[in-house]
Amino acid sequence: MMLGKNLTIIGGSGGMGRVFSRYFKQHGFNVTINARNAKKLRQIAEDLGVNYELDLKKSVENADIVMVSIPIHSTPKMIENIVPFMKENSLIFDITSIKRETYRVLNIAHNKFHINCLSLHPMFGPGIKNFKNYTLIVLRVGGTKHYNETVEEFLDLFKSDGLVITETTLEVHDKHIALTLGVPHMLNILFLNLLKRTNESLSELTRYTGTTFLLQKVFAESIIQREMEMFGEIQIENQDFYTILELFENLIKEYKNIIKTKDLKRFSNIFSQGLEYSKKDIHFENSYKYFYKFMKILKE
Ligand SMILES: NC(=O)c1ccc[n+]([C@@H]2O[C@H](COP(=O)([O-])OP(=O)(O)OC[C@H]3O[C@@H](n4cnc5c(N)ncnc54)[C@H](OP(=O)(O)O)[C@@H]3O)[C@@H](O)[C@H]2O)c1
Repeated sequence: MMLGKNLTIIGGSGGMGRVFSRYFKQHGFNVTINARNAKKLRQIAEDLGVNYELDLKKSVENADIVMVSIPIHSTPKMIENIVPFMKENSLIFDITSIKRETYRVLNIAHNKFHINCLSLHPMFGPGIKNFKNYTLIVLRVGGTKHYNETVEEFLDLFKSDGLVITETTLEVHDKHIALTLGVPHMLNILFLNLLKRTNESLSELTRYTGTTFLLQKVFAESIIQREMEMFGEIQIENQDFYTILELFENLIKEYKNIIKTKDLKRFSNIFSQGLEYSKKDIHFENSYKYFYKFMKILKE
């Protein structure tokens, strides 16, 4: 065994912090949570049955593993602040949705201190009940001479619960995340704002709802109730997202032109390009069936 069982979560009173506190506690770790708001921290620690500590140094100096689970923009500074207090051979990891700055700081940390640095991105939110078949993105940063064994041991824990591990690099992570998080979030925010700008109420529109509108609406409504700050950061702080936005702008212009000129041939062209693109996808064949499965839930 490379890793000990003392585990501290900075931001342990947050949505993801609570999910992972519960998870690590269930797996026999001695969990301590840290955050700034003392009242909230104490209450949550009591509810979860874990320890809490307000002082940052005390939070991390005895930890074998430190997880940082605070908003994206505060994460790099937090890592810089705590790594000098960490034990030799301990492991630190973040779970931010954008990696550029965090990765840079972790990379410096393991060169300066005798610690192991890892960067994780769970592809699920605090609503999760069971990790099975959800994706965990892993970026290896670097560390001591036992780095790979330490990381393997740690990842085995997640694997044993059925999490699907996607290992990647910094550049690929941020580029792909701009598409898999930024784009669907944006489309749903825009969907609701587009409807709003027509001055039609949603309840009135719902009286006219077809299947696609209903599903799209539920989807958008689930997103718009989530963490605004994080959704904003995922789009604003990711340089790759801006490039995609420019692509999108051109696509909209092209689309508008197709509609304006009543050009069914070009419409057919853009439609079939979408079809060709998705044909080989693993969900393609059954997507219409899934669609009606989701509908069934909404119609019950
Ligand atoms: N939510 C998701 O769906 C999701 C999915 C994947 C990854 N993530 C990542 O998970 C991380 C946490 O997200 P979350 O949704 O759990 O956020 P959250 O619910 O807002 O929780 C943030 C936590 O961090 C603490 N905190 C905030 N600023 C801090 C600071 N400067 N120093 C110390 N503690 C601070 C907060 O408590 P105090 O305010 O009391 O300090 C709270 O405990 C983010 O990096 C996010 O990108 C989130």
